[in-house]
Amino acid sequence: MSGATIRIDSHMEASGSLGSMADDVRAGLSGALMELSPKYFYDDRGSELFEQITSLPEYYPTRCEREILNRRAPEIVELCDPLELVELGSGVASKTRALLYAMAGADKLRRYVPVDVSEAVVTRCAEELTEAYPGLEVHGVVGDFLQHLDRLPDGERRMVAFLGSTIGNLHPADRTVFLAAVRDLLGPGDRLVLGLDLVKDVRVLEAAYNDSAGVTAEFNLNMLHAINAALGADFEPAAFEHVAFFEPEHSWVEMRLRASEDQRITIPGAALELDLEAGDEIRTEISTKFTREGITAELADAGMAMRSFFTDERGWFGLAVAARV
Ligand code: SAH
Ligand code: TRP
Repeated sequence: MSGATIRIDSHMEASGSLGSMADDVRAGLSGALMELSPKYFYDDRGSELFEQITSLPEYYPTRCEREILNRRAPEIVELCDPLELVELGSGVASKTRALLYAMAGADKLRRYVPVDVSEAVVTRCAEELTEAYPGLEVHGVVGDFLQHLDRLPDGERRMVAFLGSTIGNLHPADRTVFLAAVRDLLGPGDRLVLGLDLVKDVRVLEAAYNDSAGVTAEFNLNMLHAINAALGADFEPAAFEHVAFFEPEHSWVEMRLRASEDQRITIPGAALELDLEAGDEIRTEISTKFTREGITAELADAGMAMRSFFTDERGWFGLAVAARV
């Protein structure tokens, strides 16, 4: 019986993901504003570090979103009336358990479909969850939610969860394309459950990405290890420092790696040589901070209507429930 309920499809190895990483890295480092995609944070070590970030005292988003989910999951499940949960960027799915628990309690839990670029987290979460819910079918998808949404298994009455404000890590133009793709994924009976970090005091925002234990810095620098390993590059993480600050014009926190000395980097896998001067910066992530009005309008532009919006007690984090119109 066990084992028969887990299936995992991988779209990363076969489809030349290394080739696309090489192109991506070359393009990102060749312009005036150097940038690397945040999806390269999440090798095995990166996924582990992110999990540590979620319990840091300064990193409030996970606790706020957990508060909402723990309190409101039964109501959300009633509102969405799902038979399965599809989760994009599922990670270790720790907050998701409140939704699964509420679905099981309402006898609405047939299948869970976690989608993540990290094979390790998809496998781990499939094993843990089939153990916790013996009748549960887990169909994991190892893939990129910007590229592989059309490869998800068909289903009906799907609740599509995208938690952790991961949507805020997409650039506005990518976010528009992504929301349109999600809208196309939704059938009339499906719902989107979207976690959003909200605008708040800049000190609170900046502290969340500059923790005193230095875990976020380590996470940021780990991207260089990940690129060294995948593309044979010779980045020296000790020659960079972690920088994170709120940028009010775009309403996002930006994370960068700043070269602390002049250096030459060779990236054979991307056929690139890079000369950096002390002070040069590579952007590794944006984390957009939303307002309820702003996201309502973006959902509407993508052909979706906001049905409900929940926040934690302090109003720091939002959880939107939307349907296609
Ligand atoms: N949902 C979890 C994890 C958020 S961290 C939470 O709320 O705590 C972001 C997750 O998305 C990581 O697990 C990472 O591996 C995954 N991820 C990042 N970019 C991705 C992409 N382009 N496609 C699929 N998964 C991605
Ligand atoms: N979605 C999370 C966020 O924007 C991802 C994240 C949290 C993150 N802390 C980080 C990404 C630190 C990189 C570095 O808050």
